[in-house]
Amino acid sequence: MDDDDDDIPQLSSHTLAALQEFYSEQQQREGTKTSQGFNQYSIGSIEEDWQLSQFWYSDETALCLAKEAVLAAGKGGRIACISAPSVYQKLKEQDGEDFSVCVLEYDRRFSVYGEEFIFYDYNHPLDLPENLLPHSFDIVIADPPYLSEECLQKTAETIKYLTKGKILLCTGAVMEEQAAKLLGVKMCKFIPKHSRNLANEFRCYVNYASGLD
Ligand SMILES: C[S@@+](CC[C@H](N)C(=O)[O-])C[C@H]1O[C@@H](n2cnc3c(N)ncnc32)[C@H](O)[C@@H]1O
Repeated sequence: MDDDDDDIPQLSSHTLAALQEFYSEQQQREGTKTSQGFNQYSIGSIEEDWQLSQFWYSDETALCLAKEAVLAAGKGGRIACISAPSVYQKLKEQDGEDFSVCVLEYDRRFSVYGEEFIFYDYNHPLDLPENLLPHSFDIVIADPPYLSEECLQKTAETIKYLTKGKILLCTGAVMEEQAAKLLGVKMCKFIPKHSRNLANEFRCYVNYASGLD
């Protein structure tokens, strides 16, 4: 080594390893977020399948619901999105926020999201992986596929099993009474919007003091 090399600040092997780990994690994050400039978390990256009663929220609504979930879950909180994949996608775009999230979905195309995807069929409301412990989510958001009492009642079983308490339900205005009976939720002033106009009036319901009023 010559004199010039002595002037170059040297990083300790420990700092260097930490830096390398940081860069490789950053690369991994970017790699999953974009492939050939395509954001795999953008709403609509998985197209609506009307056979599965899929109607995606508008970008603004998904963002509003995602922000509400983060606030309600609190620092380091856990969020479950049941049959509401665009809220999951919007949450994944919220860089730097401190929370964890998973998406419970019937459509296996969402398995591209890896371990955060959990296959879910409301017909078997408690048929869940063992590692999904009861009352382990700070908030559960759900948008059941059908406007029927049976579908809401079964989805409600899953919601009550998973939540520590907070519930954010999105469904038709016609389900107000049943939602109150099954989950103790009240209609919010906030009106969710979809990327396409729906024939049915949609609303959000919560059982806590939310920012949606
Ligand atoms: C009315 S959409 C709600 C989507 C929400 N608006 C969003 O943008 O994320 C109903 C959701 O239920 C899912 N779904 C369809 N059949 C289901 C089933 N048997 N069990 C659970 N979820 C189901 C659909 O794939 C869809 O994501």
